[in-house]
Order: sequence, then structure tokens, then C-alpha cells
Amino acid sequence: MKTVHSISSLSGSIQVPGDKSISHRAVMLAAIAEGITEINGFLNGEDCLHTIKVFKQLGVEIEQTGETAYKVKGNGLYSLKEPKDVLYVGNSGTTIRLTSGILAGQPFYSVLTGDQSIIRRPMKRVIEPLRKMGAFIDGKENGRFAPITIRGGSLHGISYESPIASAQVKSAILLAGLYADTQTTFIEPYRSRDHSEKLLAQFGAKLEIKGRQVTIFPKPRLEAQSIQIPGDFSSAAFFIAAALIVPNSRIEIRNVGLNETRIGFLEIVKKMNGKVEITDQRFFGQEVVGDLIIESSSLHGIEISGEMIPRLIDELPLLAVLASQAEGTTKVTDAKELRVKETDRIETISTALRNVGVEIEELEDGFIIKGKQKIRGGVISTKGDHRIGMAMAIAGLIAVTPIIIHQSEAIHVSYPQFFEDLKQLAR
Ligand code: S3P
Repeated sequence: MKTVHSISSLSGSIQVPGDKSISHRAVMLAAIAEGITEINGFLNGEDCLHTIKVFKQLGVEIEQTGETAYKVKGNGLYSLKEPKDVLYVGNSGTTIRLTSGILAGQPFYSVLTGDQSIIRRPMKRVIEPLRKMGAFIDGKENGRFAPITIRGGSLHGISYESPIASAQVKSAILLAGLYADTQTTFIEPYRSRDHSEKLLAQFGAKLEIKGRQVTIFPKPRLEAQSIQIPGDFSSAAFFIAAALIVPNSRIEIRNVGLNETRIGFLEIVKKMNGKVEITDQRFFGQEVVGDLIIESSSLHGIEISGEMIPRLIDELPLLAVLASQAEGTTKVTDAKELRVKETDRIETISTALRNVGVEIEELEDGFIIKGKQKIRGGVISTKGDHRIGMAMAIAGLIAVTPIIIHQSEAIHVSYPQFFEDLKQLAR
């Protein structure tokens, strides 16, 4: 349990931990590349630590060489070993879905499962296309849910038009495509985050990208790399929001990943009249990185839908908090995917906000929230969802009475030192 009190301002400079999506992918690709990959800036959150554990179970040598530094010894595409036991991913959707893609290409038997949230999240979205590629893959209720069982092997290249814009599905199919007999093409309705494409290319895979369509060519020689992981924009977003809504604030966040498929929240915040400045843009590998300066701002409401949604999907619960402080109404639609995240995030953020005195209207695929509301304070539960916990902690910074957050340990999934960083900035 954590209690968050209101503060008078935020100031100072921090660096948020490594990007969650890239940390998972770095370990996975290093595991099937040839040679020793050095990873720096790895996110030691529970989700990414589960990926390390899973790949160790698959016979990969992974050594921690510093606080956020790891060495991964890869022995090539065909070096993974049949695990002796079930592969447990905890709360991590990225681990279970992307690893399914890799395991679909392995000629052995494996079982993937996770916590109470994972076993309720949709898995057919990866199982169906992987079956089309020829993998023997199944799950509870004819492939709808984990545990997932896989006997992989000779895969065929496919062309797959995905009904949803999901980077996890896209990545699973591209990873399986490494093991197929011919090229594999994935087409998505809107562009989702492209970290897999960037990292695959860095490791030496051959890809062709045309708008919403990615083609991967099979059986490349993946070569070990030295990888510097940028700070996670989705973690930075909490402090961006905090500095915008707490009066008299000015903070700097250094080394933040600014991949254009990830920074929809930044674009929206600017449209809402938020003062955010990007300085010193540079590259870590193929990923754009920069420093951010954020100042308290008078925000106004906005409408968000369509192609923007996948580019800020993880920031939408936080956006609800921000919108409650803006002038006018904010409306989010086309975001039905929120209902199948770590929790049903439309429901969990709405319940949490109502518990602290904020009105919000739930839609099937989003929400409507009026601005300039008083946050009264009160008791909420994360329901085991890290991003709900952090979003409500930010609400607590301007609440009339404290916000008490139950199940706050969920935050360790993506940002174990969240409260320490918050303390460092709070005045
Ligand atoms: C992720 C993709 C997104 C995102 C999740 C991480 C990834 O999920 O919500 O937090 O690392 O590929 P979907 O691909 O299911 O949209």
C-alpha cells in the first residue's frame, strides 16, 4: 500500500529506467544471435526479468554484469533447448506473445503460462497466425487463453493481415518468420510500435517495410550487438503529466526514447497546450533519444481516435487523469484494446477515478471526461495493474486529501523505483 500526498511543485532532473519493450526484445534477439551481446540500460522490472528467466530455461547463458548491464551468450537461431519445466511469464504479455513466436520455430515441446491476469488475456491473436504458419500450438478453450502449448518446427511463410494494430502480434509473427521456409508478411491496420523491426535490422535480419506492411526474410545470420536501451517513454509519461498539472513545476527527463511510434502522448499533450521541449536528439542504435523539459501548463481537452491510439495506448489511463485537469471535454474512442490489457483499463481507471471524486463516462471503446474537476482523494486499488497505480499516484499529487493506493507493488512490473524518482522531484 502507498499513500500519495499533494505537493507544491516538481523540479529537478531524472532519468527514467530502460524501455520495457526494447529490454524484452534485446534479450530475445541476443538469445538467438551468434556471439555475446552486451545490453546496457536494461529495465530490471518484473516483466523483463521474467523474459531473462524464460530464456535461461531455454538454455541461454545470461549474466548480469552491472546494475542494468547484462551479457547474453547467443548460439544462433537453432540453439535453444527444450525446457524442463513450464515457462512462467508472470504478468508479461510481451514475454508470452513474443516468445510464442520464437518457440513456434523450435522443434521441441514447451508450455507458457503466467499470472491470473495473463491467463485471462487473449492469445488467439498469436495462436491463429502461428497455426497458419504450421506450428502445433494450442491453448485453453481451443487456443483462446494461456497456458499455451507449443510443438514447433517447420514453418511456412505467410502473408497475414492482422485485424488489430498490436506490436506483440506483429513481433511474434516476424520472429516466427525467421524460421519459415519463405518470406513472411505482416500487415497491420495502423502502425504499432516498431522496436522489433529496428532491433531485428540491427542484429542483421533482412526486412522490407512499406507503410503498414512488414516483410521478413527467413534464416538470417543474426550477429551479437552492443545495445544501449533508451529510457522508457511510457515511464517518462507519468512525470510529464505530473509536471504539467502540478503548479510551478519545471523538470528535465534525460535519455528518453522518442521513437515516433511511441510518442503519441507527447503529440497530444502539445496539442492540449502542454509545454514540453525536446533537446539534444540523438540515436541509441536505431532508436531516437532526447532530453525533455516540461513545465506546468494550462491544458485544454481533446478528441483522440484512429491511428493515434496504438501510439499512446499505454498512456491512455494517465491521459484520463490529465484530461480531468484540462479546460473542456476530452473524448477517447477506438481504444477497445484497453479492455484486454493487464486489466480492463477502461473499467479500472474509471473505478479508480470515481473513488477519488472524479467523474468519467465509460464508452465501449474509450471514455469521455470533463475537465477542471477537483480530485478529492480517497482509496483505490491498482487491481494488479502497474500503469493504473502510477496514473493514480500522479492524481494524488494534486488531490485535496491523500490517495491511498492498494496493490501498489504491481508498479514493480515496469518501474520498481517509481516512488523514489517521484520523491526526488517532489517539492
Ligand atoms: C507492447 C505492445 C503493446 C503495449 C504493451 C507492450 C510491446 O501491446 O500495450 O505494453 O512491447 O510490444 P499490444 O501489442 O498488445 O498492443
